Amino acid sequence: MTQDIYLTGITTTGTPHVGNYVGAIRPGIAASRDPSTEHFYFLADYHSLAKNEDPDKIAQSTLEIAASWMALGLDTDRAFFYRQSDIPEIPELTWILTGMTAKGLMNRAHSYKAAVQANEERGNADPDKGVMMALYSYPVLMAADILMFKSTKVPVGRDQKQHVEMARDIAQRFNHHYGETFVLPEPVIGEHTAVLKGLDGRKMSKSYNNTIPLFANEKRLRKLIMKIKTDSLEPGEPKDPDDSTLFDIYKAFATEEESSAIEKRYAEGIAWGEMKQVLFDYINEHLKPAREEYERLIANPGIVEAELQRGADKARARSAPFLAEIRDTIGIRRLG
Ligand code: TRP
Repeated sequence: MTQDIYLTGITTTGTPHVGNYVGAIRPGIAASRDPSTEHFYFLADYHSLAKNEDPDKIAQSTLEIAASWMALGLDTDRAFFYRQSDIPEIPELTWILTGMTAKGLMNRAHSYKAAVQANEERGNADPDKGVMMALYSYPVLMAADILMFKSTKVPVGRDQKQHVEMARDIAQRFNHHYGETFVLPEPVIGEHTAVLKGLDGRKMSKSYNNTIPLFANEKRLRKLIMKIKTDSLEPGEPKDPDDSTLFDIYKAFATEEESSAIEKRYAEGIAWGEMKQVLFDYINEHLKPAREEYERLIANPGIVEAELQRGADKARARSAPFLAEIRDTIGIRRLG
């Protein structure tokens, strides 16, 4: 059996938060230590254009996400760590795949359908009002990311599963038409990876504005943790850890023994104020070394940039020869 190639992209919108860490960064870094598999992690900056981000924000987010993964110890000698826009073969492959992508397939994409539905609900005469091709063709760019590096496994959140299936459909159609070229990828949905609760008790997410930035400084971290929503049970009253955002976050960081010790304290009626302090102390201690490294990298973006360039060179050693083969296959050939 050939070895699995894992690949996943991180859209460069916003600052990494504790939920990203627990759900994607930490498991990604851990998985990349497995020498029997290969791992590609990249900053999907062209994807962020679909969200119409401010140019400075895209650049800032790219720096923050890259610095986070590096500060947390991603082994960039082993993993392929790069920025999408540094790989010119990706947009080129996107256009090639566009030629093999049924429009009807794109019509079925959830994100496009959601935009159309929103227009209908608002009573807009044009169901496509405000829909840019970057949104409509988003799955083709994502297919190029995935197929470019012959990935077999694509770890994504549930909301992205359909896009990976579309990449597979596009690859199949291409292979059928031109002969075996692309490896068919499979989505990997982290059933066991934690989905963290945010400040208000809903899923921690940028779109709910309830996140704790992963490397917030101590003062800010304390302030945010003190804001986490609790119920009105008094000190001394037993509390249910399974219905507590504070415990949810604690558990995502702590060992099993530490978590069960805290469960006992819930049963004994720990005061919310005290639990907030416990949580702050724990996370703060846990993140301190990485936070220091993160701050150093943010202050020295040249270090991050050099690492991304090294990653791009490594990745292009794969993508350039493969794209040359693909061009040959489709008849975009040299004549001499
Ligand atoms: N669209 C993904 C998201 O929003 C990010 C992404 C871009 C991606 N290209 C990818 C994920 C390729 C996996 C594989 O989360």
